Amino acid sequence: MQGLTANLDKLHTTDLGAERIRRSLNLQTDDVVLWCKEFVKQADIIIGQGRNWYAYGRGMVVTVNQKSFTIISAQPINAKVRPMMASDYACLSEFLYQAIYIPEGVQAPPRSVVNDPMLNVYIKDFGSQAGDVGVVAEQDRQVVGAAWTRIIPAYGSIDSETPELAVSMLPEFRGYGIGTKMLKKLFEELRAKGYSRTSLSVQKENPAVRFYERLGYEISEEKPDHAGEGDFIMVKDLNGGEL
Ligand SMILES: CC(C)(COP(=O)(O)OP(=O)(O)OC[C@H]1O[C@@H](n2cnc3c(N)ncnc32)[C@H](O)[C@@H]1OP(=O)(O)O)[C@@H](O)C(=O)NCCC(=O)NCCS
Repeated sequence: MQGLTANLDKLHTTDLGAERIRRSLNLQTDDVVLWCKEFVKQADIIIGQGRNWYAYGRGMVVTVNQKSFTIISAQPINAKVRPMMASDYACLSEFLYQAIYIPEGVQAPPRSVVNDPMLNVYIKDFGSQAGDVGVVAEQDRQVVGAAWTRIIPAYGSIDSETPELAVSMLPEFRGYGIGTKMLKKLFEELRAKGYSRTSLSVQKENPAVRFYERLGYEISEEKPDHAGEGDFIMVKDLNGGEL
């Protein structure tokens, strides 16, 4: 975001603030402000929200007041996971898009792909039927990830009682353990509603297969998707194991 990167020379903090940041990130540097300037320059994404700028990268977030350019804090990314609310439904289309696996070197499809009926069924009128259960991850009041289930005749459906999962994080927030936190919370929500299994479909070469296996999903079937590529159907027993 230009407002912040164009004004890096204005960044400052108090001695106390610098000490707090040093402790929070375990920094060895004497010049915390210089460290923050470099961090902002290399940030994956900078978001202006409320009174602050938030610069994210390498699992950390630096918060800067938009008016005074005071560095408020610098800490590890620590998204909170909570049940999905009706006000979150509007962002499902973005998270459905983010859930599409795009292999290295392949061009991303247009965002309108989520209107394809085979995909749209994952989000259309979400919240209106049994099996519509969701959680989101929120960082600095912004939803950065979502995981939700539906009982729908879609790619990963195994029967009419088992909710099928869809999940994604915004790209800048992947790989920091937030997806794991979301799914553990979602499993709790599903158990509380009496579901005993949840299923999903994933392309065989998607690294998310490892993520699902760690969370207790097992491959139940292999079948071609609409494009003739190989998909795994994976199923998790919600009453087995600890997760
Ligand atoms: C899959 C996803 C929701 C996991 O959330 P996360 O917060 O990144 O996951 P965690 O940090 O808790 O766990 C890390 C694991 O996620 C998976 N992962 C990490 N980055 C990924 C990426 N860009 N794409 C797919 N999976 C990824 C890997 O299995 C990784 O484990 P590994 O380091 O052993 O390879 C998230 O990475 C994502 O949105 N990926 C792209 C969308 C997607 O593939 N959704 C699933 C469609 S079936």
